[in-house]
Amino acid sequence: MGRISERIRYVGVNDLQKVIFEGMWPLPFGVSYNSYLVISDKVALIDTVEAGFAAEYMDNIRKELGDRKVDYLVVNHMEPDHSSLIRLVREAWPDVRIVGNAKTVPMIKGYHGIADNIHIVKEGDSISLGDCTLTFYMAPMVHWPETMVTYLNEEKTLFSGDAFGTFGAVDGGIQDQTARLMGSSDSALDTFDAFRDEMRRYYSNIVGKFGQTVQAALKKLSGLEISRICATHGPVWEKNIPEVISYYDRLSRYDADNGVCIAYASMYGNTAAAAKALAAALEERGVECVLHNLCTENVSYAYRDVFKYNTLVVGSPTYNNDIFPPAYGFMYGVCARLVKNRRFAAFGSFTWAGASVKLLNEMASRAGMELISDGLSFPQAYSKEKCDMEALADKIAASLK
Ligand SMILES: Cc1cc2nc3c(=O)[nH]c(=O)nc-3n(C[C@H](O)[C@H](O)[C@H](O)COP(=O)(O)O)c2cc1C
Ligand SMILES: [Fe+2]
Ligand SMILES: [Fe+2]
Repeated sequence: MGRISERIRYVGVNDLQKVIFEGMWPLPFGVSYNSYLVISDKVALIDTVEAGFAAEYMDNIRKELGDRKVDYLVVNHMEPDHSSLIRLVREAWPDVRIVGNAKTVPMIKGYHGIADNIHIVKEGDSISLGDCTLTFYMAPMVHWPETMVTYLNEEKTLFSGDAFGTFGAVDGGIQDQTARLMGSSDSALDTFDAFRDEMRRYYSNIVGKFGQTVQAALKKLSGLEISRICATHGPVWEKNIPEVISYYDRLSRYDADNGVCIAYASMYGNTAAAAKALAAALEERGVECVLHNLCTENVSYAYRDVFKYNTLVVGSPTYNNDIFPPAYGFMYGVCARLVKNRRFAAFGSFTWAGASVKLLNEMASRAGMELISDGLSFPQAYSKEKCDMEALADKIAASLK
């Protein structure tokens, strides 16, 4: 699956072993770490892969290059899932010139102890490989300060780093004409559609806070003609470029569909019963809605759907006069992601003095969300009389019209 074009070869790997990415995010479909060779009179390697894949990675490179050497190693991003094998590349080809920007340099030294033979590039600088040219554009805070992208002028190809990346290992060829989400049951889906949910889960959990800097990068890149996007995770985008760019644009503007993400936490099932009643009431009214249990699910799925729907409803019992910790942690993360343009409501059970709903409302208000209800705080067991989810569903349905 190495050949993307005569000049560009894929030398990345699928990781189907890792259970939890970045110590937090499950990988039900795995993940790929993508690295690319650009072969001309000179050879450039773009990024590396995660530690643990050294043998497979070197095999992939040698299969494409034979005895030729790598002249340049372009470091678009220093997060270790892409930079771990920098030292290995330097050991294999001791003359390799590492290409990064001023912010990359101290990170390479700090992680790998490498400080020599580094070529520092600035915005718009180019390197000729012979019959083709690489041009570098800075993309700070997408999603680290040193992130940059590399453009291969002659092939209108953007090596975009994590931007436009997605969770999910890739099966069936790396290009989106044939690529499939590994382990997915629906092989009939278009590639973008197959990856859409995992792309949103990747974006919302890893890049989500940086909507503003992603917007700045998109604006900058809009001046380039792009016919291929080689990201560091997921398929190489060719046919799906319009969908992928417009999806990133929407996500980074926090633009969302009409619908409701209900995220709840519950110790004894009372708040859970209210959550389910709300979901049923919304369904009766034809309002799209998803339900996430913050006590049993990894929180990345709830964040994924906070980025999908324009209405967020959070359920939490009162716990030590506060928000129940799983719901607090979730809400803290929503605020940390600087999520904008959301409508909000809260609900939850207490036994002697409710506090969670008021505190959730305060967090949402501070984050600039629009409260569509005062919230539904109810004592002890859930009942329709104590917690009128029909009325809340009516308000939500009306607000979505
Ligand atoms: C450790 C602990 C602390 C609690 N703190 C409070 C509290 O400060 N105020 C209150 O009214 N209820 C408090 N409760 C009672 C719960 O809010 C109550 O049991 C509620 O119905 C739980 O909702 P759930 O069934 O959705 O978990 C506490 C319960 C536990 C287990
Ligand atoms: Fe990253
Ligand atoms: Fe990454």
